[in-house]
Amino acid sequence: MRQMKKMMTLCALVCLAFSAKAVDANYNVIPLPQKIELNKSAGAFKLDNTVKIVYQGGKDLKRNAQFLADYVREDVGLTLPVAGKASKGKVIVVKADLKDSNHEAYKITVTGNSVTINGASAAGAFYGVQTLRKALPQEPASEVNLPSGQIYDYPRFGYRGGMLDCGRHFFTVDEVKNYIDILALHNINQFHWHLSEDQGWRIEIKKYPNLTKVGAWRKRCDIVSGDTVADSKPYGGFYTQAQAKEIVKYAADRYVNVIPEIDMPGHMTAALASYPNLGCTGGPYEVRSTWGVMADVLCAGNDQTIAFIKEVLNELMDIFPSKYIHVGGDECPKANWEKCPKCQARIKSLGIVSDGKHSAETLLQNYITETAYKTISKRGRRMIGWDEVLDGNISNNIIIMSWRGTKGGIAGARKGNDVLMTPTSYCYFDFYQSEDHSTEPRAIGGYLPVKTVYSFEPMPQELTAEQQKHILGPQENLWTEFIATMPHVEYMVLPRIDAMCEVQWTNPERKNYDDFKARVPHMMKIYDKKGWKYAKHILTEK
Ligand code: ACM
Ligand code: ZN
Repeated sequence: MRQMKKMMTLCALVCLAFSAKAVDANYNVIPLPQKIELNKSAGAFKLDNTVKIVYQGGKDLKRNAQFLADYVREDVGLTLPVAGKASKGKVIVVKADLKDSNHEAYKITVTGNSVTINGASAAGAFYGVQTLRKALPQEPASEVNLPSGQIYDYPRFGYRGGMLDCGRHFFTVDEVKNYIDILALHNINQFHWHLSEDQGWRIEIKKYPNLTKVGAWRKRCDIVSGDTVADSKPYGGFYTQAQAKEIVKYAADRYVNVIPEIDMPGHMTAALASYPNLGCTGGPYEVRSTWGVMADVLCAGNDQTIAFIKEVLNELMDIFPSKYIHVGGDECPKANWEKCPKCQARIKSLGIVSDGKHSAETLLQNYITETAYKTISKRGRRMIGWDEVLDGNISNNIIIMSWRGTKGGIAGARKGNDVLMTPTSYCYFDFYQSEDHSTEPRAIGGYLPVKTVYSFEPMPQELTAEQQKHILGPQENLWTEFIATMPHVEYMVLPRIDAMCEVQWTNPERKNYDDFKARVPHMMKIYDKKGWKYAKHILTEK
C-alpha cells in the first residue's frame, strides 16, 4: 500500500513537471500595435515566479502594476510581487516618462533581463499593460518566453467610445462595471452611459425626487429578449448618486471616462410621468412599457421645463466630472409643439420662422439645445448631441454624434463642429449577427457581422485635411430594447468590439481582416476565463 502511494506521488510530480511547461507570448494582439520589432538574435525574457513587477511613480503606476500582477495570475497562474523599488533579478518595470506627442502612447522594451513598459502618461502605461497581458498564453505555465524586441504603440483616435443603454433595460452597478471591464480590455477610453429614456429614468436627481420614485419604474416589460419572458411584473431600477460616483471611480482607474447622457427633449416620457407639468398636454403620462418614438416630449414653451433642464444638468455635472456631457436631441416629434399654445407663444417671442427647409417647430428644438449648451459651457464642459441637433443654427462648440449614417458628421465637420462617428450600419451592436434570425435571440433588426464593423473607415475622404481634424473618433452603441441581461449584452458586443477597437486604435495601413480574424480566438480564451458570453459566427465565417 505504501509502495503504491509512493508511486502515485512520483507520478503526480512527473505529471506536474510536464504540464508546467514553457510557452511563448505573442505580441500580435487586438488592437494590433502600430509597430512590433523583434530582436531575434537576443534571448527571450523568461517570465517565471522569480520575476518582480516594479513601478516607478505614484499611485496610478502602482495600480497599473497591480493590474498587471492580477492579469499574470489570471492568465498563466504565476503570482508575482509588486514593489516600488527595483531590486536584483528579473523585473517588469512599469513607468510613464516616455516623451511622445500622443499622451496615450507607450513603448514596451523586452530584453533577456527585463521588460519595460513606458507610457507617455499613466494611461499610456495602462495600454502597455493591456498589450502585455493579451500577449500572454491563456493557460497555466511555469515559464512564458517573451521574445526580445520593442513595441511602439499609440491610438489613431483620441476618442474611442462604447455606449450602453440602461434606460430600456436596467443593469446593476456590478454589471455596468463588467461592461467597463470589456471596454478597458479593448483600450476604449469613453463610456457613454445612456441614463434616461421613455421606459425609465435611471439617475438620482435630488432636486427632482420623482424622477426615480416614479420615472424609474414601469408597470410591465411587454417586449423582452430571448433570455426572459414577457410578463406583467413592474420593472425598473436606478443608480444613486453615490453609486454613479463609484462607477466613475471604477472607470477612471481603468482610464475610461464616463459620459452621462440625459436625452432631451424627446425620449422623455419617464420624466413626464414624474412631472406632468413639463409636457405640452399636462398628461397623464405613463412610463412606457413598449418601444418606439413617442409623441410626448418636453414642452419647449414652458419656463418650468427650462429650469428643469438647467437644474438637472447642473446636478449631473456635480456627479460626473466628464469634460463631455451628452444631451441627446434625437427623435423628437413636433406634433405636440404644433398644437401647444405655450410652444407657439415661444416661437413667436423668439421670432422663429420656418427657413423653408425646417419648420418653425423643428427650429424651436434649437432653443432647448441652446439652453443645454449654455448650461454645460458655463461649467467649462462640452456638449454632445445626436446629429438631429444640426437642424438649427447651433454653436460650433457642440460635438455632433453622427448616427444616421456619416452625413451628419460630414456636415458638422464642414461647419466647424467636432464629430463622433457612430453610423448605424457599422456601429449599432443591437443589430443581428446573422442573416438567419431563427438561430439568434430577437434583435432590433439590421445585420452587422464582425467583418462589416472591421471595414468601417471613420475618416470621410471627402473632407479636407483641416476638416478631418474635427473627427474625434468612432464609437459602438448598444441599445437594449431586446437585451435584458448582461450575458446577452456580452453576446452582442463580443467579438464585434474587437473589430471596433482596431478601427479606433490601429492605423488603417496596419489593418487586415484575415490577419485580425486569426487573432480573435486568442481573445476568446480571455472571454472564456472571464466567463463572458460571446458570439462565434466569425469562427465559421467563409
Ligand atoms: C438613436 O439611435 N436614436 C440615436
Ligand atoms: Zn408645449
